[in-house]
Amino acid sequence: MKVVIVLAASIALCAGNEVLSVPGDNSHYIEGESRFIWMPDGDGVPLLVDLEESFDEELLNTRYGANNEYWLYTRKNPNISQLIVKGNANSAWNSNYASGRPLKVLVHGWQNNGNSSMNTLIKSAFLEEQDANVIVVDWHAFASSNYLTAAEGVPEIGEYLGNFLIWLINTAGGNWDNVHLVGFSLGAHVVGNAGRQVDGRAARVTGLDPAGPKWHGNSKALNKQSGQYVEAIHTDGGVFGILEPIAHADFYPNGGKNPQPGCCLMSTCSHSRAYELFASSVLNNSFKGRGCKDLDQAKSVKCNGSIFSMGNGIISKRGFGIFGLKTGSSYPFFFFYF
Ligand SMILES: *[C@@H]1O[C@H](CO)[C@@H](O)[C@H](O)[C@H]1NC(C)=O
Ligand SMILES: *[C@@H]1O[C@H](CO)[C@@H](O)[C@H](O)[C@H]1NC(C)=O
Ligand SMILES: *[C@@H]1O[C@H](CO)[C@@H](O)[C@H](O)[C@H]1NC(C)=O
Ligand SMILES: *[C@@H]1O[C@H](CO)[C@@H](O)[C@H](O)[C@H]1NC(C)=O
Repeated sequence: MKVVIVLAASIALCAGNEVLSVPGDNSHYIEGESRFIWMPDGDGVPLLVDLEESFDEELLNTRYGANNEYWLYTRKNPNISQLIVKGNANSAWNSNYASGRPLKVLVHGWQNNGNSSMNTLIKSAFLEEQDANVIVVDWHAFASSNYLTAAEGVPEIGEYLGNFLIWLINTAGGNWDNVHLVGFSLGAHVVGNAGRQVDGRAARVTGLDPAGPKWHGNSKALNKQSGQYVEAIHTDGGVFGILEPIAHADFYPNGGKNPQPGCCLMSTCSHSRAYELFASSVLNNSFKGRGCKDLDQAKSVKCNGSIFSMGNGIISKRGFGIFGLKTGSSYPFFFFYF
């Protein structure tokens, strides 16, 4: 009991004027400054995260990247995955992996796993739209550690993923110009590191609301060196997502911040909107971004420059700049003028 009171008192002291009494309310939060933030666990229940908490050193000292699992889905097995194991060539040769087809790699974020909705939505969209190899990376054992530990481990998770992809292409064939890496939240930084591990050869890298806390100005974040063409879709910038542009092309739907249309005050909905928009764009390439002069214009949803599609599944997509657009509030999220 005493411990709880002391802890509560120290939170109140350390947090200064930050209002932390309402679970999930991050209105106090300032990127790069605030110590405390509410984050959703895998079921969306808000957990108060101390951004100065200590690492789980014991976990960080293991070769945790080796626990990554690679689940292959194709049109032949859209619902039941085949496990591909690095170093076991038969696991690749005997699978439905087809070297001549596009390779899409999906990576989840904190407190999620390979079955999380980000994976199922995007996997289904890709397989409906094209005959591809979709590999879902499951790193749930490590992603379920405390946020700071999970964030600290992201570069190694990405390094192992990169080495796996090199092995897969060397063993079972494939072409870097056909590789598209897609990551959500912390997973965006995982694919950022995986992309650099393969020397930026992947044709396309998509970061879906790349995680913000601890990634502001971090050299291990997703960046332009992560692929031939790197894009980010920001939907909860400044809270769970990073607000600043970090890619070749950065999209700011509805200003890039919480609340996105149809979302209430909590950031979870706005954060998840990034992968919902992306899945919709793969099925129907209808989101027209407009070039912005700068981030302020994007935040105020006033961009009116040249048109560049947000999202889609086109492997050869290339572009550069900051883009803004409006979306609707429910699936497929297209915005219509009345
Ligand atoms: C896969 O699951 C979807 C959605 O549940 C279903 O519509 C589809 O028929 C399933 N496909 C196969 C091949 O089992
Ligand atoms: C994912 O779903 C499959 C099929 O339902 C299940 O066998 C597996 O244990 C699940 N894995 C995780 C990490 O939740
Ligand atoms: C894609 O969306 C547009 C609206 O932007 C709609 O008119 C069109 O029918 C849709 N196409 C498909 C294949 O669903
Ligand atoms: C964009 O809007 C500004 C004023 O808000 C206007 O001066 C400019 O011509 C517009 N550009 C385009 C491409 O419509």
